[in-house]
Amino acid sequence: MPDSKAIDRLEFADAPDMLRALKPRQPVYCIHPDVYRAAAAEFVGGFPGRVLYAVKANDDPEVLRLLNEGGIRHFDCASLPEIEAVRTYCPGSTPYFMTPVRLRGAARLAQREWGVRHFMVDDTSGLERLRAEIDMRSSVVFVRMAVRHPHALQNFANKFGADPDEVPGLLQSVRGLGAEPALAFNVGSSVISPDAYTEAMDIAAGVLRQVGFPLRLVDIGGGFPLEYPGFPVPPLGDYFQAVTDAMPSLGLARDGELMAEPGRRLAAPGLSAVVEVLLRKDDRVYINDGMYGIFWELRFKAHQRYAVTAYREGRELTGDTDAFHLFGPTCDGSDVLPETISLPREVAPGDHLHFHRLGAYSLSGRTRFNAHYSDLVVRLMSH
Ligand SMILES: Cc1ncc(COP(=O)(O)O)c(C=O)c1O
Repeated sequence: MPDSKAIDRLEFADAPDMLRALKPRQPVYCIHPDVYRAAAAEFVGGFPGRVLYAVKANDDPEVLRLLNEGGIRHFDCASLPEIEAVRTYCPGSTPYFMTPVRLRGAARLAQREWGVRHFMVDDTSGLERLRAEIDMRSSVVFVRMAVRHPHALQNFANKFGADPDEVPGLLQSVRGLGAEPALAFNVGSSVISPDAYTEAMDIAAGVLRQVGFPLRLVDIGGGFPLEYPGFPVPPLGDYFQAVTDAMPSLGLARDGELMAEPGRRLAAPGLSAVVEVLLRKDDRVYINDGMYGIFWELRFKAHQRYAVTAYREGRELTGDTDAFHLFGPTCDGSDVLPETISLPREVAPGDHLHFHRLGAYSLSGRTRFNAHYSDLVVRLMSH
């Protein structure tokens, strides 16, 4: 097994230091170790229960390791490679296989090769398939319930989750097959009001009253939002308070625990991207990364911008600003950032733009379209 210390990366004091040293032609992705550790510590310190990092948000080995160092001991995985990464880079941590849709045989391998004990289903046929692959008696099986809320800017209820009225029967079936039943739901991503959690927990409480036995684990999913320019969100503490207030209504067992699966909130703050301006035509600026690359999540209807700093020859570029349309480097006409970005008026080819807090759904989702793909990830010790 590779050692977590084996992540070999160039290290710089800050972005100007990196630019002077590397003079990079390709995009450079910058990991800020202290920011990741602090994000993990903040969540673990405030959430009233077990915190699972949703690996899909950013599965970079160093990100996993830093969150682990910050106190994350549990990881929400949706595939065998994610499970393997957690076992490899986060010693002493627990991967959970938290999706009702898995490759054939993946649950069996997860249990046999990686010691996974937690799985998920959202219908009877999926439960049958799972049962054929794992030892139920040593497993916890979460039944995923569908919930949706207008304050969740991305919804998953069209794809996953049993209707609340089917959930008691499914929980009873899980128990009948010898596994420990548990409940999970996910209100969505970028959930801009804590009320969404209160309401989902209220639905869960109603479901659990019909089950006939108390559960030990209820997983309230991810969705905890982060602030971006033009996208204000309530403080994280408001979400923790809402969840804490609603928790007694669930009637959990005496050793009961709440769980959460934050992705964005842990993944986003500690990564930035430095890109180069390739061409400028009036208010149109062409850069060496785009919507098929690091900015791919901007196609969703949540935040539309990241904070940005401009540099010329390694020094910050300041002065009057204008609004610019930013185009990526590929041949596709839709490769343009959704909203204009305010940049120094004199921005020109050869300048660099440093986009901040874009560690969520960026590295893990970009494509190789037009063969524009950079794997240059460095460490910046200040930010
Ligand atoms: C099941 C599940 N859990 C957690 C998350 C993480 O969501 P977020 O990044 O909004 O916290 C997602 C996002 O897709 C998800 O599907």
